[in-house]
Amino acid sequence: EEIEKGGYDHFMLKEIYEQPRAIKDTYRGRLLADQGLIRMAGIDLNMEKFLNANRIIIVACGTSWHAGLVAEYIFEDLARIPVEVEYASEFRYRNPVITDKDVLIAISQSGETADTLAAIKLAKEKGAFVFGVCNVVGSSIARESDAGAYTHAGPEIGVASTKAFTTQITVLTLMALKLAKAKGVFSESRYHEYLCELETIPGKVEKSLESNTLIEIIADVYKDSTNCLYLGRGYNFPVALEGALKLKEISYIHAEGYPAAEMKHGPIALIDEHMPVFVIATKKGHYEKVVSNIQEIKSRKGKIIAIVTEGDEQVKDLADHVIEVPETLESLTPLLTTIPLQLISYHIAVMRGCNVDQPRNLAKSVTVE
Ligand code: G6P
Repeated sequence: EEIEKGGYDHFMLKEIYEQPRAIKDTYRGRLLADQGLIRMAGIDLNMEKFLNANRIIIVACGTSWHAGLVAEYIFEDLARIPVEVEYASEFRYRNPVITDKDVLIAISQSGETADTLAAIKLAKEKGAFVFGVCNVVGSSIARESDAGAYTHAGPEIGVASTKAFTTQITVLTLMALKLAKAKGVFSESRYHEYLCELETIPGKVEKSLESNTLIEIIADVYKDSTNCLYLGRGYNFPVALEGALKLKEISYIHAEGYPAAEMKHGPIALIDEHMPVFVIATKKGHYEKVVSNIQEIKSRKGKIIAIVTEGDEQVKDLADHVIEVPETLESLTPLLTTIPLQLISYHIAVMRGCNVDQPRNLAKSVTVE
């Protein structure tokens, strides 16, 4: 096992650090920026299904569900296709309206999650076209789907999902870009800009990982907290949810993710000098609005840990700590802002003496209902 960890103390840390490579593996052979092309057989062969779909329904559980939420923003924003994201477990038990004009995308790292598998079966019975986004090759969900795309993240051992999440977002971004191009909603230059920017992401993830030492220092300050709040807007709202989930899963600290603007409808009542608030405040996407949310937290003496774009000065003056990530296109920011949140959870869990790779009560793959 020590050899498999490749010199890292835990699989989770190893997998966090594998992300630049994993993301590259995900788009290798698919993203051909110099030719202005994205090659994905599962989409190419079924393009009509996607183009004629009334809507896309995404089903998933846990971290994969958060990737689905990011995908909702990506598909609607870039490809202008309506999307609904459902917890697989709720979907199957609420008599959903599904027709043969729907495309269902099932996202699952393991490809074995019982609820997601059951949601696929239900959708197929109703005639929907099912597309699987899985990591494990030949898994049940991959086999049950009509078509699909693998994430190629490599084996993920840590129960808390890390590289599976960022590679799922990568695949879903490629899909949305392909559909945007096919629908003609993207100009050639915009498309080209996206393809080139995607190729810079592994390097930018690498850069984001350089904050590790700073994050360890921040983790030490907040490791004894009993509650934490995570806020983000737009594309980074699902990242806030995922940040909170990661902390809950491995450090057993109660954490909640919220859309930053929704804070005033409840969570703001919790804010005092004992509440650390992680705020994603990157330059692209509602920046000024998030800054005013930060001011509201500050005036209630909450402790602010902000994830900002490199070189940001405004938030630095307000926050207790800032962690920088490189600049990128708004829709690609989740691939970077997720990294410091994974690291903070990891370090807090280690400092609290928790079993990082195998947290209590959790399983890597939930194959029962
Ligand atoms: C479990 C794991 C999570 C994972 C979820 C969905 O709860 O602990 O890390 O996100 O299942 O798993 P899947 O394999 O379908 O992505």
